[in-house]
Amino acid sequence: MDSIILLLHVLGATIWTGGHIVLAVGILPTVLRENSPAKLLEFESVYEKIGMPALLIQVITGIAMAYRMIPDVFQWFDFSNPIAHLIVSKLCLLLLTIVIALHARLRLIPALSASNLKLMAWHVIAVTIISVLFVVVGVSFRTGWFY
Ligand code: HEM
Repeated sequence: MDSIILLLHVLGATIWTGGHIVLAVGILPTVLRENSPAKLLEFESVYEKIGMPALLIQVITGIAMAYRMIPDVFQWFDFSNPIAHLIVSKLCLLLLTIVIALHARLRLIPALSASNLKLMAWHVIAVTIISVLFVVVGVSFRTGWFY
């Protein structure tokens, strides 16, 4: 069961982080060059259907793995334990992702135009960098990079 949870977590990571890198590096430069919100919306409408379930799977499997590592949830915030640093880092990255994604989804995307395209681009870049940090922190559970 543990290995299935890890497999789902890694599969979700390929979709979430990979999808954002494709968007930021492959699509965003053309969108900005052509000043074309339509191209961004087209990608968003397709990616949303895969990316959102992937993020949900990340959260569920991530919480399950954190729970297996430290079964007392209050100990997740005990900073004398190095594993707690990583779990809290993941939770902070998640909070940041939710705030930025909600602002983009609820405020920017419904009225996306040439005038707020640059602001939307910064949102995409921020969520992409955070998605890579999720992977870096994730891998460091095994490599011990941060402790
Ligand atoms: C989009 C969000 C996320 C991405 C892209 C992501 C990515 C990753 C990756 C690539 C690993 C390494 C897996 C391995 O060791 O082979 C990992 C491990 C881990 N992640 Fe995440 N993660 C995300 C969200 C979360 C969340 C919300 C939590 C909850 C606290 C979490 C908790 C963990 C834990 C506990 C591990 C260690 C698993 C192990 O080494 O056995 N992750 N993550």
